[in-house]
Amino acid sequence: MMRLRSVELELPQSDAAAGFLSGAWGLLDAGKRGKTTFLRGTGDHGYIISVTEAAVFGIASVTFSGSGEEVAGVAQRAKAAKVPHQPIQSFDEPGNGHGFVLEGLEGQIYRFIAETQPVAKLPDDLKRPIQLTHTVLNSTDREACVRFAEQVFGFRISDRTQAMSFLRCNRQHHAVAYVKSDICSLNHIAFEMPNLEAVMLGIGRMRDNGVPLVWGPGRHGPGNNVFGYFVAPFGGIIEYTSEVNLVDDDYPVGKPEDWTWPPGRSDQWGHSLKDMARAETAERQYRFRPAVIPA
Ligand SMILES: [Fe+2]
Repeated sequence: MMRLRSVELELPQSDAAAGFLSGAWGLLDAGKRGKTTFLRGTGDHGYIISVTEAAVFGIASVTFSGSGEEVAGVAQRAKAAKVPHQPIQSFDEPGNGHGFVLEGLEGQIYRFIAETQPVAKLPDDLKRPIQLTHTVLNSTDREACVRFAEQVFGFRISDRTQAMSFLRCNRQHHAVAYVKSDICSLNHIAFEMPNLEAVMLGIGRMRDNGVPLVWGPGRHGPGNNVFGYFVAPFGGIIEYTSEVNLVDDDYPVGKPEDWTWPPGRSDQWGHSLKDMARAETAERQYRFRPAVIPA
């Protein structure tokens, strides 16, 4: 089964970021290799986020995992579509595996890996994320990104709103979404918590640690998941989420007119509005590196 596996970030002062992620945020240390620190959740992925020491902020890649067959299928379609990509290779990182790197239409770097050493799942813990459940990317042409994800990745569209398009790669309503923007960058990373209680406890724990909400608590329209969004101490937006809808093949693709809110609302609960002034800077902080993959 294809799943969103991890996001790889590059940033200055990565040790402080790793300390926050393995401290208040609730992840577990998955080891360090060179300038990179890996962190895992309680799920079965060797790691779900990595932070690499660098002079400038950047998102190195978004990584999906699947079976060898699924990864080979993406590679075949990438080749047929003449998408810039690297040959299948081994990855020496927690979880290990064989896979490849490809470049999206706006310079996004995606990796597809068949993990060969998944770790044992740990018991759910209300203080700890399980895994990533989605990541959202800003995009200058989101519908082109949707077509690319459908045709090359084999993902399926779940919903479209005025600003966003949501795609899934398994029964979870979305694994990746694209937001209409003037740049291509990381919009946010969502960490799946065991339940609503864990999301709310996490919101309190962040407040205790001087990291107030930038949006939430709330319950989204598309996906129906509960959420709390924060500007991370290392920049970028991170989300605690839970209760995302599981959908089947016959899920009707929602249109923007299906997802409208009364004035002054942007979610089902109506408890808070997104602090756009604070969020917008963070949503532009992590950009992909210039293209490095030959066609
Ligand atoms: Fe989200």
